Amino acid sequence: MADKRSRLLWRDITVFDGQHELADPMAVLVADGRVAKLCRDAELDAADLAGVTDMGHGGVMTPGLVDCHTHLVFAGSRAGEFALRLEGASYAEVAQAGGGILSTVRATRDASEDELVAATLPRLDALLADGVTTVEIKSGYGLTVADELKMLRAARRLGEIRPVRVVTTLLGAHALPLEYQDDSDAYIRLVCNEMIPAAAADGLADAVDVFCEGIAFSPAQCERVFSAAARHGLRVKAHAEQLSNLGGAALAARHGALSADHIDYLDDAGVESMAEAGTVATLLPGAYLTLRESQQPPIDALRRHGVPIAVATDANPGSSPMFMPTLMLNLACTLFRLTPREALAGMTTNGARALNLADVGRIAEGLRADLCVWDVERSNELAYAVQAGRLRQRIFDGEITQERTHER
Ligand code: NIG
Ligand code: FE
Repeated sequence: MADKRSRLLWRDITVFDGQHELADPMAVLVADGRVAKLCRDAELDAADLAGVTDMGHGGVMTPGLVDCHTHLVFAGSRAGEFALRLEGASYAEVAQAGGGILSTVRATRDASEDELVAATLPRLDALLADGVTTVEIKSGYGLTVADELKMLRAARRLGEIRPVRVVTTLLGAHALPLEYQDDSDAYIRLVCNEMIPAAAADGLADAVDVFCEGIAFSPAQCERVFSAAARHGLRVKAHAEQLSNLGGAALAARHGALSADHIDYLDDAGVESMAEAGTVATLLPGAYLTLRESQQPPIDALRRHGVPIAVATDANPGSSPMFMPTLMLNLACTLFRLTPREALAGMTTNGARALNLADVGRIAEGLRADLCVWDVERSNELAYAVQAGRLRQRIFDGEITQERTHER
């Protein structure tokens, strides 16, 4: 393993820079945690080569993957609900019967912060083994001030014990907890007046999310949450138009949302609002598959209006129990007809944009060296084949954090 201060050099490597695969094989020099040089092999000079560690050649280098939408921290399992849904119960019916998100809330409230960290580590490790270097983690299974903060603290700790950037999002407005069943406005007041201020005061949340849906919160309630977030200097995002069209994405866009996510039922007006605001459209094909949805997100309209498209796992115990980001690249293509290039840009450049991160998700001189080297010949193979174990090297902050050592 090379240490952080070393200068690492890859030669003759195919580079996907976050938007496109570059035409020629390239050399990539990493120093002091950043990409110091990206050029053709022949353009390397003696100064570049001084004191470098040769990291190999061949294969494909991409930015480290950015999974911009997960609910990775939770306790318990929803395997029973999976079976119920296969027998015909809908996601909404399971939720209305007290299962669904609320069953994970019960298990998560019962878990300590340490237990949540321990339960989440194997899931996080699965993401890292498949190339993730930045992951967003939402709260939303606590639904009390103390339990939401506990989830956010667990998420932050995961970023300290593993080499990964963790971005946290407060999702207090995820579901209505049982104790507020008759007064959803009172719960929204708790989110606005206590949860958001507490998370902001402790620096535990990078953004605020809502679930705008018939089985969750109305646009008017979500708007109150967005205004409270703004008062505390936090950017917003939304689960919107997942099961129906309530105009949540347009509302979020009007509040400067970083992203609107799911958006299966998004209409033209919603697309236009997102384009105007520069709001990223985050596609979550794992949830679409798991819930056996049939309403396709409006990909052509998003393209026509130049809305940046991100792709994420939505890793969670209910609607997307999937912890393999490269599978999502494949599903985004097979289910939504993204091109392999669009899918990979969605989990690099546009994923970073959905998290408001300017210096990851792309490979360019001066940007952070969060990188993956894959044992494939072309970058489009990552979406084409569903195959674990293709990650040759994972580089986080200029340091090799994972390396396959066997013969290749
Ligand atoms: O992104 N849509 C709401 N929230 C999650 C599901 C969470 C769960 O089912 O536990 C989602 O699909
Ligand atoms: Fe989600």
